[in-house]
Amino acid sequence: MCGIVGYLGKKALLPLLVQSLRQLEYRGYDSAGLSWFDSQSNQLKTVKATGKLQNLANALPPELMQETDATHPAYQLGIGHIRWATHGTPTLDNAHPHHSQNGEIVLVHNGIIENFATLKQDLQGKGYVFRSETDTESIVHLLEETMKQTAENTPFIDILRQTKQQLTGAYALTVMHQGSPERLFATRQQAPLVVGIGLNNDEFWVASDVVALVAYTNKVLYLEDGQLVELSPEGLKLFDADGQALSPRVETIVTGPLTIDKKGYKHFMLKEIYEQPDVVRNALSGRLSAVDAPIALENDAPYRSKQHGDSLPKTLDALVADVDRLVIIGCGTSYNAGLVAKYFIEQLVRVSVEVEAAGEYRYRQPVLTPKTLVVAISQSGETADTLEAIRQAKTSGARTIALTNRPDSSMAREVDAVIDVRAGVEVSVCATKSFVAQLVALQLLGIFMLEQRTPALPAQLALLPSLKQALLRIPVQMEAMLSDVDTYHKLAKKYAAYPSFLFVARGINFPVAMEGALKLKEISYIHAEGYSGAELKHGPIALLDEKMPVLTLLAGGSVFDKMLSNCQEARAREAQVIALTNEPIPDGYADTFMDVITYPACDELLSPLLSAIPLQLLSYYIAEHLGKDVDQPRNLAKSVTVE
Ligand code: M6R
Repeated sequence: MCGIVGYLGKKALLPLLVQSLRQLEYRGYDSAGLSWFDSQSNQLKTVKATGKLQNLANALPPELMQETDATHPAYQLGIGHIRWATHGTPTLDNAHPHHSQNGEIVLVHNGIIENFATLKQDLQGKGYVFRSETDTESIVHLLEETMKQTAENTPFIDILRQTKQQLTGAYALTVMHQGSPERLFATRQQAPLVVGIGLNNDEFWVASDVVALVAYTNKVLYLEDGQLVELSPEGLKLFDADGQALSPRVETIVTGPLTIDKKGYKHFMLKEIYEQPDVVRNALSGRLSAVDAPIALENDAPYRSKQHGDSLPKTLDALVADVDRLVIIGCGTSYNAGLVAKYFIEQLVRVSVEVEAAGEYRYRQPVLTPKTLVVAISQSGETADTLEAIRQAKTSGARTIALTNRPDSSMAREVDAVIDVRAGVEVSVCATKSFVAQLVALQLLGIFMLEQRTPALPAQLALLPSLKQALLRIPVQMEAMLSDVDTYHKLAKKYAAYPSFLFVARGINFPVAMEGALKLKEISYIHAEGYSGAELKHGPIALLDEKMPVLTLLAGGSVFDKMLSNCQEARAREAQVIALTNEPIPDGYADTFMDVITYPACDELLSPLLSAIPLQLLSYYIAEHLGKDVDQPRNLAKSVTVE
């Protein structure tokens, strides 16, 4: 989704801004732009381009792009943006940065201004001419108008604060004003924004994600909702929404390396699929050490300090003790991971689990009690619907946990506790390793809850040693699976031309079927749906004929036989039935399956960790065979920060 960068300092400006934007590129975008202060002409300059960031780099003045840090004794100042269209198509006019009518103010914006239509009408009535279809343009004209209505020499930070009071919605803004040539201004409201601070407090970066500035500094200030910041060679000034000066809480980033590198793979998605054995090892490390040792799960909440009046972090055992209901919320792949967890936790821990898409949950009035534990699953920790849903749960008095790959995210900063899924940076828009890491973290949470429960459930506890043993075996089993690529090449070639797929499963693999369908549709644009085998006869079977591939997940265990019957029903309608199984197919089924993909036998409760991988590989190779943009599929963004 949209990305913001900004810089104030003595480094070569344009190469730095482009490089920072490149770090955000993976999030999905359709146009890009930069503005900078040109000290020779005393003017703000802007260059924009549609399409890939390279188009912007090519359009920038070559002499400025060739500058090196050594060539710059003076302060440089600039902002940049990649845009994912919400209001208006991806055109040059709609790309950011946007200028005020008098050309003296320029800004970049992430988020959505919900009252933009009213603001626009009002501003048009005052003579402002809109050049774009964006909601963003209303902010920049409003800044100019506020300036006109305010006493001369009012500091620009106050103009920004007053303008902000008139905005409704979610936004992160970074602004430059011609009258303040060595100053960068920024503010946020329900959209992330972080400031990077140079060693001597006289050099600053602004970014919507720390990934964009981590190459330059590890000292950061995460802005909180409502806060405004003014950056200048004299230092950083932080204000609350009322204009009161605040003392900034500067943190040293403690997250692992945030490097973005394909490491020789053709696509990030393939690299991330192959990282999964290590992702599981990493997720288990220090948490599951031996089959007879309890799970050690800690609150991975980001840095908190008494100096800033934070309450002490809650421990996970305190949060899960005496919980009588679990509610899991998430979107897309994270939602599917929650559905798998429902089967796992209800069966093992005997606690009721509800799972709901966060975008629906937030507009209901769910029943929550102080004994309800609400777990928000989000790779990015920034998904707007999930963030708002967990906020509401917290306000309603429930206990809250964020299960995320980004313990530095907005979500992680607002909940009682955090479980870091430890997948490492996931660049491909299509979630793969984060799904598997989420599953492992949820399994650990389930086992942890069972071990903390009073009164204890001896029969359930007796299941744990073999389950833990099976979990520890998963990385090696994954490695064995990943050594076979030919199968997927062949299947991709055979099935890529089919316009529609069904993924069918039952039990704990039903959500994996949904996840498989999501993978295929998002990167190959082939229509696909995940269905429960039990539901097949209630409608979707009408779709089946020789033109419909039906990929069936036949995990050994409680529903294997039921699934075999569903496969026969599909084959009887001449569907192209493909089996994905970790159990020998019984005699008599030779004609049922067109193709059989096998994977290692494992505990049924853990089978989603393995069954997900062939579906990821099949989707990957089909998309690759079709020549699709695998890592940045059309219309999609890595982090969905707007509703
Ligand atoms: O960052 P989140 O986990 O909150 O993202 C949720 C979804 O947008 C995400 O899982 C999406 O469905 C994936 N791109 C699917 O591969």
